[in-house]
Amino acid sequence: MNMKKILLAGCLFFAAIFVARSQAPAVFTVAADQPSADVQPTMWGIFFEDINLGADGGLYAELVKNRSFEFAAPMMGWKEQKTEGASGSLIVQNRGEKSAANPRYLRVTNKGDGGKYGISNEGFRGMGIRQGELYNFSVWIRQVSGPSPQLHIELQNAAGEVLGRASFAPGGKDWAQQKVSFTASATEPKARLFLWLEGKGAVDLDMVSLFPQKTWKGRPGGLRPDLVQLLADMKPGFLRFPGGCIVEGRELATRYQWKKTIGNIEDREMIINRWNNEFPHRPTPDYFQTFGLGFFEYFQLAEDIGAEPLPVLNCGMACQFNSGEVVPTDQLDPYIRDALDLIEFANGSATDTKWGKLRADLGHPEPFDLKLLGVGNEQWGEQYVERHSVFAKAIRDKYPGIRLVSSVGPFAEGEMFDYLTKEMAAIKTDLVDEHYYRNPEWFLQNATRYDKYPRTGPRIFAGEYAAQSVAVISPDNKNNWRCAIAEAAFMTGLERNADLVHMASYAPLFAHTEGWQWTPNLIWFDNLRSYGTPNYYVQQLFATNKGSKILPVSYQNAAATGQDGLYASSTFDQATGDIIVKIVNTTAVAKPAEIHFNGLKNLAGTGKMIVLQSDNPESVNSLDRPVQVAPRETAIPVKDKKAVVSLAAGSVSVIRVK
Ligand code: AHR
Repeated sequence: MNMKKILLAGCLFFAAIFVARSQAPAVFTVAADQPSADVQPTMWGIFFEDINLGADGGLYAELVKNRSFEFAAPMMGWKEQKTEGASGSLIVQNRGEKSAANPRYLRVTNKGDGGKYGISNEGFRGMGIRQGELYNFSVWIRQVSGPSPQLHIELQNAAGEVLGRASFAPGGKDWAQQKVSFTASATEPKARLFLWLEGKGAVDLDMVSLFPQKTWKGRPGGLRPDLVQLLADMKPGFLRFPGGCIVEGRELATRYQWKKTIGNIEDREMIINRWNNEFPHRPTPDYFQTFGLGFFEYFQLAEDIGAEPLPVLNCGMACQFNSGEVVPTDQLDPYIRDALDLIEFANGSATDTKWGKLRADLGHPEPFDLKLLGVGNEQWGEQYVERHSVFAKAIRDKYPGIRLVSSVGPFAEGEMFDYLTKEMAAIKTDLVDEHYYRNPEWFLQNATRYDKYPRTGPRIFAGEYAAQSVAVISPDNKNNWRCAIAEAAFMTGLERNADLVHMASYAPLFAHTEGWQWTPNLIWFDNLRSYGTPNYYVQQLFATNKGSKILPVSYQNAAATGQDGLYASSTFDQATGDIIVKIVNTTAVAKPAEIHFNGLKNLAGTGKMIVLQSDNPESVNSLDRPVQVAPRETAIPVKDKKAVVSLAAGSVSVIRVK
């Protein structure tokens, strides 16, 4: 290096030090002695919907697709198979009214020319199989003819190699459930299941099922443990289920009916999933709802992960973006009955009530302690107000303790929204469900959205939100850091207004990387792997550092709502005695900062700082790099009631001090 270059480098070095030294720290002041309103335990929760293969093909661990041959095309997902020389036939039979919820079954005949004849199932974009794990196969079967045909069950990998097998004789002439288990010899994301009939004869098959033994809490026919774990790790305050538009149905006939989702799985009537054909640009013709994950399982899941259950029911209206069909107001009785019965199912006595007894028979004698009920999803117009009022009256008359969650339409501003906001305030509903699928800038600008909201009306449930990197419904939307940090900035506004905002949830929750219809989503998975997006870690950071009382925090003598690109909120956590400060630095430069804790006699020691950060707004996580953007924790010194920290460029920081 010549002398000139050395001098230039030296000058630049000192200039950088000068700039860093001269950058005055951003000073945040927490009024630690002024706790105000409660932060509700329900503040940060989960929105679940069977979209993007969220339930069937996702959370619900069943590996066989179209297990009961009830898809519109009865053999969808199945293929005829035969070894050399074998011949036979596959005939779909329909019992009609004899088994109205599950009329079809398959007759498999091996003509006995030698060899094996049967079927294979492709699973949901393949079957995810793990080496050394046990798999439980079951089938409803009866032998129709033949001296002694054998049924061989076989798992094969994509190359046709066998990963596990079991055999049995079908046995009797009456329908019976048969079960066999086997251990997989290798891990495979795209396995297929084969059922071979060997020897002359015919059998009838229904409810062909394969589950891993390892499900969440080891429940037979249960849920995928990695996906539930991701939910549990959020420590969610509530679980809203079963959606979303899925509650409404594209038409009333395909609305969600909770009573058809409980009890024996073979009696749960399968229907088309509304996301099957919703988007011409993302058709999913093999998307149906088996309801193997039904209302009992949703309540159980909520309980498992410590979340308040928030079921949402159809209120006599199909999706207004689709058919918009409504039930005449004098014919709403069955819908109202469903709502009242659901409350009894969740909370009623296990001995003295019909629905409470059913809950007990299903294995849960204790009530689920339901406190919240959603009436409709994204409904709007006078037709909603009319139907909602019939629901509200019936529910409040019988169950005054249940808090009602009501729609204010699909958009959180505009004429529909203003109209419903007024109407819902007038009938004094408990919470209104606001949805915002907007661009990241909207989220930044709306960190003050609730600062001036009236406090006299219903509380707010920010029920569905997600920053859209391109546009709503664009298949190019990404779960990138630009969106996640904007959501975090917005969430400081929700937290600052926690006296008004009682619940909030990102949406949608889950997406299969090969089977999605909508993006962005909080958690992505394939048949074996799963990961949380940067948006997931924002949700997790807020939910696991919630606190129980709002504390005022100021920046430049005002709430931090974007001045210098900074956003902040603060809470006090009565359970741990911690003061929690959340600061979002949306700028591309690191900022030195001081956090002053006013109103305390003393505060010193060691605190902790948990930081979620990326220098690149386009950063994403992926199956191969699942924690590229994930929280990192460090210890920080606290002296003289002050913490001196650096707020990394493009970061969400949580500072906790005792
Ligand atoms: O989250 C996806 C869909 O968006 C939900 O089903 C619906 O409520 C909203 O329009």
